[in-house]
Amino acid sequence: MARPSIFITGAAAGIGRATAKLFVAEGWLVGAYDIDRPGLDSLQQEVRTGSLVTGVLDVRDVAAWEKGMAEFFAAAGGRLDVLLNNAGILYSGPFESITPEQHHRLVDVNINGVINGCHAALPYLRRTPDSRVINMASAGAIYGHPSLASYSASKFAVRALTEALDLEWQQYGVKVRDVWPLYVSTAMVDNLQARSIKTLGVTLTAEDVARTILRITRDKGGRLHWPVGWRTHVLAGSVKLLPGRVSRLLTRWTST
Ligand SMILES: NC(=O)c1ccc[n+]([C@@H]2O[C@H](COP(=O)([O-])OP(=O)(O)OC[C@H]3O[C@@H](n4cnc5c(N)ncnc54)[C@H](O)[C@@H]3O)[C@@H](O)[C@H]2O)c1
Repeated sequence: MARPSIFITGAAAGIGRATAKLFVAEGWLVGAYDIDRPGLDSLQQEVRTGSLVTGVLDVRDVAAWEKGMAEFFAAAGGRLDVLLNNAGILYSGPFESITPEQHHRLVDVNINGVINGCHAALPYLRRTPDSRVINMASAGAIYGHPSLASYSASKFAVRALTEALDLEWQQYGVKVRDVWPLYVSTAMVDNLQARSIKTLGVTLTAEDVARTILRITRDKGGRLHWPVGWRTHVLAGSVKLLPGRVSRLLTRWTST
């Protein structure tokens, strides 16, 4: 039986890269895909193993998804245990300071990229017992976030896709989960223009998130959403328990 395999988008840097390294260390075959070829080459050099397959893939490109998936499935000996839809981009600041083109690009990568990935991967996931999709959402999927409005909206969409597809794909034995980190120390948060990064702080590392992703692959239960870090657990719990007006006040207090 071939070893388990994971296909990771946005794997050249940040959370995707840390996850690729962790899964290689855990004995998986890892497909690391990104638009950043030099970043993938440096990952390959760092890992130096036959357990890593790399490829250039823009998550907005449907044809590239079909080609990348077919190639990786063959390299993995006919199994796809996990698709990690991790690639994402962020524009921050007042809504009107971000151009419509930037908002659209964000939606295209963060939402259509996930839709494309789920579409391309399903035929292969269905052929692998106990397979799953893990989508990278964010604490921004808990309550709409000022200065990150379209980013937050894109992560709400990822959350909804996760909930809907987990129900739809029960019939195929494919689980769908998502991850909700608060701020993580990666290039994405360099120069981020949102007050909440000061009030809430950047306390998570990419490795913290990678470890949560590994836990999700081992989980036999039905938990869909995986906050990372105690602050995210508190935020998620308070929105669930407190009246809407209090959640709004809490968000206003931390972010405006
Ligand atoms: N850093 C944070 O604070 C944080 C918090 C919560 C969620 N997230 C989410 O985690 C994911 C990874 O973020 P990160 O912090 O590692 O960011 P990062 O900027 O460090 O890495 C993102 C990677 O995605 C790649 N990428 C960008 N556009 C792409 C495309 N069209 N196709 C394929 N690859 C593309 C980049 O080349 C880069 O390697 C994103 O979905 C992000 O929204 C990040």
